[in-house]
Amino acid sequence: MPERKFTVTAALPYSNGRLHVGHIAGCYLPADTFVRYLRSRGEDVAFICGSDDYGVPVALTARKEGKTPRQVSDHYRKVQKADFKGLGIEFDTYGGTSKPPHDEISRQFFLKAHENGYLEKRRQKQLFDPEAQMFLPDRYVEGICHHCQSPDARGDQCETCGRQIDPELLEQPRSTVTGARPEIRETVHWFFLLSKFEDRLRDWIESHTEWRPMVRNFARGLLDAGLPDRAITRDLEWGIPVPLESDPDAEGKVLYVWFDAPIGYVSFTADWCERVGRGRGDYEKWWKNPQSEIVHFIGEDNVVFHALMWPAMLMAQEDFELPSQIPANCFLNVQFPGEDERKISKSRGNAIWIGEYLSSYDPDPLRYYLTMIAPEDQRTTFKFDDFINRNNDELVACLGNLVHRTITFAHKYCEGKIPTRGSISQEDRSRLEATSKLPDIVAGRLEDYGFKAALHEIMAAARETNRYFDMRKPWVLRKENMEECKTVLNVLLNTIKTLGVVAEPFLPFAAAKISSMLACEECEFSWHAAAQALPENRPLGEAEILFAKLEHPEA
Ligand code: MF3
Ligand code: ZN
Repeated sequence: MPERKFTVTAALPYSNGRLHVGHIAGCYLPADTFVRYLRSRGEDVAFICGSDDYGVPVALTARKEGKTPRQVSDHYRKVQKADFKGLGIEFDTYGGTSKPPHDEISRQFFLKAHENGYLEKRRQKQLFDPEAQMFLPDRYVEGICHHCQSPDARGDQCETCGRQIDPELLEQPRSTVTGARPEIRETVHWFFLLSKFEDRLRDWIESHTEWRPMVRNFARGLLDAGLPDRAITRDLEWGIPVPLESDPDAEGKVLYVWFDAPIGYVSFTADWCERVGRGRGDYEKWWKNPQSEIVHFIGEDNVVFHALMWPAMLMAQEDFELPSQIPANCFLNVQFPGEDERKISKSRGNAIWIGEYLSSYDPDPLRYYLTMIAPEDQRTTFKFDDFINRNNDELVACLGNLVHRTITFAHKYCEGKIPTRGSISQEDRSRLEATSKLPDIVAGRLEDYGFKAALHEIMAAARETNRYFDMRKPWVLRKENMEECKTVLNVLLNTIKTLGVVAEPFLPFAAAKISSMLACEECEFSWHAAAQALPENRPLGEAEILFAKLEHPEA
């Protein structure tokens, strides 16, 4: 019987490009790790993601590549799905906002908010590109941030200070489509009355003392500054048409991408429920059920939307539950050998792309390194040298070596079986005790969303187990006291099993090898059975190498 219910989401990637290590470290890897942990515990969990297809980024790429937005989004959606698969990031469902039933469910959200009096039609001045003859959606405009004076703020959000931008207030604006100085023209848009939710949002955020300080403080700061009402429609073709057919003002308008995208979490759940035969309406068990914990994994640039806008949208629907947790990570910088640390930038070509990574390396070392340097409360840097070193010094020399020397020893001197445990020494006892405590220790870290801390516990246990191996010297015992030797190997194999189970959320490929070397049944390799003793005399599987030693690439 599952004890809890979790609706876990990872930010929907825009389907206009490949994924790089920053995306993965930001939200997909911690989300997958968390979900694997929950699944291992047998909890009821839905892991929801999919592509964010609409909006300017995709339209902009299509314009550049001479394709339709749909061609672009279908293409990159496939590429991104393959990247996730290659890294072992396994969603229960991967939807797309340009695919049904997302349009229908988004229209319902809009209409319900409208009905409840949270939308208002307003005339508005907007930037218009006289050369391209089009209204310029926010991201097509660049200029000086009116909050912090950063010179290259985009019209929707300033990357430097993280604040949302009022595009008409940008100083020295230029169109990124043609470079022209935009004119100001009048248009009509529907506004979401975010200001009506200030008190409720404040109470809700104050009640969540367990959130990461970065997320909570950021949301509080914005609340203190006062929440502006936000236009949630755009003059664009690529998007979901505003569902007010009887209103001539609605013509040619689509929903703002940041309005429809988070609804994707709900619509993808509904689609999934339908496809697995539970009926579309079953999504309510995940979204309208006080027993279900909704956890949104995101990157730092998405905090505004997930801690304020989206919860307010949910409040406007009346019967939806609010998120329980919003674990946001900071950005990741990159550093190549002999170069300076830099922000990841697609345009400047200094990114580590997942597709390229996977053509040369295994997934687990990247999962390992990105967790060890996880930007959980501050920006951190992916250093290529460091990645190679930590693979060799930690994965290969510590965990890999422990498993390899234990299994090969058991094959050589214990008839390839799990040897019997005789009377145990003080050292054996303390090793076994430490091992049996490990699952709870790691779980405690994970329940607090401390992924880096959890992995440190696992690696510390692996190091101690290597020390135990060296201290108990089975290669000497083998000649002097075979019964004691077998006992030590039994302790080692059991410890390795526990390590394998608790490492599975982080290193699923290595864990699968450990499980098969120990010939475990699936039920033995679950969190609750992590410290359960292996049956004696069961034959072992063949020894396999967990991690390959990596060379530093030539400069
Ligand atoms: N596509 C957005 C980004 O990459 C994230 C959308 S998350 C959702 O920054 F909540 F809107 F779905
Ligand atoms: Zn700024």
